[in-house]
Amino acid sequence: MNKAIYPGSFDPITYGHLDIIDRCSKIYDKLIVGVIKDSNNKKFLFDEFERKEMIESVLNKFQNVEVKIFDSLLIDFAVQENVKIIVRGLRALSDFEYEFQMALMNRKLNDEISTIFMMPHEKYIHISSSLIKEVISLGGNVKDYAPELIINNVKNKI
Ligand code: COA
Repeated sequence: MNKAIYPGSFDPITYGHLDIIDRCSKIYDKLIVGVIKDSNNKKFLFDEFERKEMIESVLNKFQNVEVKIFDSLLIDFAVQENVKIIVRGLRALSDFEYEFQMALMNRKLNDEISTIFMMPHEKYIHISSSLIKEVISLGGNVKDYAPELIINNVKNKI
């Protein structure tokens, strides 16, 4: 089976992430959306279970996508899931350096697993979860960037 992992923090999921998931679901037999439990660099608004549940609630149209929480090296999660492909979205040039470092480190850790980059639709290349949360918290309209359910969850949480 042709499987891939799309990992991230998804705090919360946006249409930009869903765009990548949509593209991957047409290429791979199975896509695992990997939700990182904790991060050294980020304080999450939603815990890992809330982030997973929110992703699942906006994924109903995809039959071949599963959401899993992981709390380890990404490469170890890939081995555990028997997956050889990691998909990362590349939005702008500014993403490149970080993604390049991560892909090469992951390759050094396990050369059997490759990272593939995919560009989301251009209407989503300027957004991020933090930006969405900031605009919502200040009363702005982000309905073009995230599903209504996600926007409401952010509003309630804030
Ligand atoms: N559309 C909209 N926004 C997008 C996007 C897209 N297609 N792709 C990425 N983003 C945004 C995210 O919303 C996120 O925004 P935020 O910083 O405001 O929250 C930002 O870009 C970063 O994206 P994300 O994909 O969540 O990456 P991350 O850096 O938070 O997490 C992991 C990356 C989880 C894959 C990485 O930390 C990891 O592998 N951790 C496991 C430990 C490990 O193996 N470490 C060694 C790695 S070499």
